[in-house]
Amino acid sequence: MSRPFLIAQISDPHLKAGGKFSYGVVDTLGALKRMVAHLNACVPRPDVVVVSGDLVDFGRADEYAVLAPLLAELAMPFYLVPGNHDDRGEMLAAFGGQSCLPVTGGTLDWVDEAWPVRLIGLDSTVPGAHGGQLSDAQLAWLDQRLGARPDVPTVLILHHPPFITGIGHMDSEPFANAAAFERVVARHQQVERLLCGHLHRPIQKRFGGSLVNVCPGTSHQIVLDLQQDAPAHFGLEPAGYLLHWWHPQEGLVTHTGVLGDYPGPYPFYDAQGLID
Ligand SMILES: [Fe+2]
Repeated sequence: MSRPFLIAQISDPHLKAGGKFSYGVVDTLGALKRMVAHLNACVPRPDVVVVSGDLVDFGRADEYAVLAPLLAELAMPFYLVPGNHDDRGEMLAAFGGQSCLPVTGGTLDWVDEAWPVRLIGLDSTVPGAHGGQLSDAQLAWLDQRLGARPDVPTVLILHHPPFITGIGHMDSEPFANAAAFERVVARHQQVERLLCGHLHRPIQKRFGGSLVNVCPGTSHQIVLDLQQDAPAHFGLEPAGYLLHWWHPQEGLVTHTGVLGDYPGPYPFYDAQGLID
């Protein structure tokens, strides 16, 4: 494919069933509907959508039953990894065998080779825990997969960012084996990006010679509070998404978009030149 390849990343939709609002105030279903409509209307249209975890709020079958038909409205293929709010078994019951997910199994790790950028999904969840990790077996699998195709630009998609961020309540359960993960990434220079969620706001960090992009949430955002005793609070800042634009010569360029109605666009220029 010589034309650019466009990956849209959305994260943490936290869907609930029965029209319930998350934490009593967040219309997560309405927010995801707006996001799906926005992505379908994008010009150029993204080639794929990746969803970096916390697909639903309590990992329940009735929540995935709300999610599945909504994701089916996407005009492009979508790819999923679980977050700490998901349940592997219920997620597989709803999506197993689709989007490179296995039909059954343990951790939900996968590879897709269909695009100019190789997509690798990693299941960083630990059942019952808030924080993330990748097991030694998962790291060995990843190392082997990356080693098999060193010349193909690759993104890794996983829910948990493998670092602390300074937002106190989110740092209380850090990624368990980030150093071992970083050593694997550092061995494979084709890793263009690690695409994460969990923090519900845009964050970047260098990692193993690559770059981590953390995606905003589709509905609620975690409050930007860099104090160790930061309480577990969220706000309704504009919902956002990332557009990862792959250009064969340039590499991967990442844009952050927000949803909402704002004034504009306005022109910079008129017939006399730059408007004074
Ligand atoms: Fe989340």
